[in-house]
Amino acid sequence: MSSFLSCLCYTICMTKQQLMDDLKREIISKKICLDLANQATQLVMGDGNPDADIVFIGEAPGKKEDGQGLPFVGAAGKFLNEMLAAAELDRKDVYITNIVKYRPPNNRDPEPAEKRVFWPYLIRQLEIIQPKAVVTLGRHSGMAFIPDLHISRDHGNARWAQYHELKFLVIPLYHPAAALYNGGLRQTLIDDFLKVTKTIDQNIN
Ligand code: URA
Repeated sequence: MSSFLSCLCYTICMTKQQLMDDLKREIISKKICLDLANQATQLVMGDGNPDADIVFIGEAPGKKEDGQGLPFVGAAGKFLNEMLAAAELDRKDVYITNIVKYRPPNNRDPEPAEKRVFWPYLIRQLEIIQPKAVVTLGRHSGMAFIPDLHISRDHGNARWAQYHELKFLVIPLYHPAAALYNGGLRQTLIDDFLKVTKTIDQNIN
């Protein structure tokens, strides 16, 4: 077999998890966002099912995520897990990731340049997963897909997004960390969360 054919066969035969692992290795070997990488413990690629219909996208790993190598495992993650359970979803059935894959020092907001440099890799993750819907958590990931997003106006409202062949529904939600200790926002986020699967079914089926 020619090397082209064997390479093609290798790519076609790979599972989505293997493709995701390859992408992770590429980010590390190309030294993407080296400044953040040098200050972080590890790259946090994602968690859950790379064959999921729904992908949740947050901002960047925090201290706990940096330590464990998994997104949303701290206080915001606990709240996210509770909302997933209330919506009859499980972390194992969805995929969870962040725009920026390394922890920004002292949990500062990710900078525009950091979001820009990770954007093509986020799109490549979505190309591997081929989700029906992307649920953005917070304004950083929301505005990456919906530049004119006003979260107080647009939360819970689905829009279509298309990147070349890839087309999916985007549902912008508040960030669980922002809503955790704010009673009004907390209830709004829970209400929006409970509508996610219905919104997807109404728009897709
Ligand atoms: N907040 C995020 O946006 N992502 C995480 O992984 C954890 C907290």
